Amino acid sequence: MIAKRDEEGESLQFPKGFLWGAATSSHQVEGDNFHNDWWQAEQEGKVPFKSGKACNHYELFEEDFALAEKMNHNAHRFSIEWSRIEPEEGTWNMREVHHYRRVLQRLKDKGFKTFVTLHHFTNPLWFVSRGGWENKQAIFYFSRFARFIYEQLGELIDFCITINEPLPYIAMGYREGLWPPFRRSDYISAFKVFNNMVLAHNQASKSIKLFNPKAKIGIAANLIDFQPRHRWNPIDRLISFLTDYFWNRLFLDRITKNTDFIGVNYYFHHHVHTAPFIFGKSHSGHEFSDMGWGIHPEGLYFVLKKACHYGKPLFVTENGIADAKDEKRVNFILGHLRYVYQAIQEGVDVRGYFYWSLMDNFEWADGFWPRFGLLEVDYKTMKRIFRPSSKVFSEICKRNGIPPTLMKI
Ligand code: FCB
Repeated sequence: MIAKRDEEGESLQFPKGFLWGAATSSHQVEGDNFHNDWWQAEQEGKVPFKSGKACNHYELFEEDFALAEKMNHNAHRFSIEWSRIEPEEGTWNMREVHHYRRVLQRLKDKGFKTFVTLHHFTNPLWFVSRGGWENKQAIFYFSRFARFIYEQLGELIDFCITINEPLPYIAMGYREGLWPPFRRSDYISAFKVFNNMVLAHNQASKSIKLFNPKAKIGIAANLIDFQPRHRWNPIDRLISFLTDYFWNRLFLDRITKNTDFIGVNYYFHHHVHTAPFIFGKSHSGHEFSDMGWGIHPEGLYFVLKKACHYGKPLFVTENGIADAKDEKRVNFILGHLRYVYQAIQEGVDVRGYFYWSLMDNFEWADGFWPRFGLLEVDYKTMKRIFRPSSKVFSEICKRNGIPPTLMKI
């Protein structure tokens, strides 16, 4: 047994007020995001698939939130598409501001806590034409946008995530060259982007706080559980330590002063050794998702235990599996939640869990085939269908924990 039962020995009860929900991002679900760099790359054939209408969540958000409510969620994480709000430099599209007001209001009416991400991989085209994140001006542009969002919509935002996963953004765009701006092994630019993102987070946080000192500002960090492949091998251990430092800690170390909470996105566990390490797959015979990502719930426990050293409240802002047949999702969720529970039992201040994702969506360069959703999407009709696993997660949300009936699974 990995986590203790509660007093009655029946269930794993999570702390009162724990937040349960799902996460999405604008470009992956909304559709028709004409003014960002991903859309452009799709039209130019630089990525293999086009997002098109995606899930048409832009028009169907009310129906989607009604389904989230049916699934007993009490919080929701989504992103505001910068390129919609500011399609040209310094020009604010108030019709889009109004759209997101309706989105947020709908969530608030349902009593949901709102988690708003301001940057989830996509950039406005005008921003890219000025050098994107490599340009120091990015710090000013981004914090001006952040401040504007707070001025317009701040009273409806409970938690604000400035930037989603800076490290994967940089790795995919500047090392692998598979995402915009498609640079391969461009480490100088990668370094500049890293630095500017750190400063942009800090500056955005300060600008927002000047406007509303009570605003809760955080980040969503993709934390990987790095373990040395051979514990006895000092080189494996050293590389594992260094990888952990560069991937998991360096960014957080530089933003903690301007951060109220840390969002943890957990997907990967890697056994590190002297061969190329960052994107190597796990080598310990774990089960895999449809995308070939190893399933290793215990890693979530380790990354939470480490992130806890920053002394900030933690939220699992993403954790999910591509599993079209819905055969592994129940165990995936239960497995990870057991470890979240264990971490909480040991004093780690975890306050919420967001499954990725509310529905199937556009998985970046992989297109629509990976199926992450609690809701299955029929892309022809845009119909949403509850996956069997969504019922299990609903029950967990309703009971604020893992009830006795699910303990044996
Ligand atoms: C995360 C991203 C998210 C989604 C999941 C599967 O790294 O933040 O947009 O693609 O992976």
